[in-house]
Amino acid sequence: MGEAGPGINVAVRLQSLSFPAIVKPPADRLYGRARSNQLRPRQRLLLDATLPRLRFDPARAGDPRAAFLAAPAGLWLEVGFGGGEHALAQATSHPEAGLIACEVFENGLCSLLSRIVPEGGEATAPLPGNLLVWDDDARILLRALPEGCLDRLFLLFPDPWPKARHVKRRFVHPENVGLVGRALRPGGTWRIASDHPTYQAWTAEVLAAQSVFDVPPPATARPDGWPPTRYEMKAERAGRPSLYWELTRRPATPF
Ligand SMILES: C[S@@+](CC[C@H](N)C(=O)[O-])C[C@H]1O[C@@H](n2cnc3c(N)ncnc32)[C@H](O)[C@@H]1O
Repeated sequence: MGEAGPGINVAVRLQSLSFPAIVKPPADRLYGRARSNQLRPRQRLLLDATLPRLRFDPARAGDPRAAFLAAPAGLWLEVGFGGGEHALAQATSHPEAGLIACEVFENGLCSLLSRIVPEGGEATAPLPGNLLVWDDDARILLRALPEGCLDRLFLLFPDPWPKARHVKRRFVHPENVGLVGRALRPGGTWRIASDHPTYQAWTAEVLAAQSVFDVPPPATARPDGWPPTRYEMKAERAGRPSLYWELTRRPATPF
């Protein structure tokens, strides 16, 4: 058991886990490089003029739906959107949902923003009304959100951190299972995809040891309604098979 934030009791059974490093709490930082060496002028402009217009205001965390132009019917969150292709595809095909897309790496942020605003329109071009960006560690936001406020969470091709000494940096970690379980409503879904054999085995093991989510066997082909991501395409080209989990938050289970 561990504390994932104020008042969050992570009821995850750990005893069946074979990875010794699991006893270590998650790392303060889960990600590698957040800054790129040198940004091009357009990227600088996107971060300076577009990001502030799309940034999720932490002061809104207590009532996250109110942060959108029109209160969305569902609230979704993506952890580590990379280039943003999945986030944008979901926001476009589901205008009824409000999506908070989280990414810490500046190049990833620029990539998403550059798909949204044309050159010259960084400060003025209209923005999608159902997409907001969180440019910090997703766990900070998850801790701040009200219990049961999310309908869906996406974790697609998270950094694998394959070395045993880096297990504590993996997003799929018993404490984060509790964190996600707290923020998702009963019946809400958590999608996880990975192409990395170590991370796949790890995910299966962590999920087998918890009681917060129903865990059907993962799919071996990308299910309908899962827009592809850049990492996924890279894995496919390299011949690495991916696994796709869709977990459902159980009702009335402690987190
Ligand atoms: C391997 S990439 C995958 C990106 C994308 N989902 C895809 O499939 O193409 C993982 C991304 O997660 C981001 N990331 C890692 N930990 C994070 C965290 N705690 N909060 C937000 N983003 C995070 C990294 O910066 C990185 O861009």
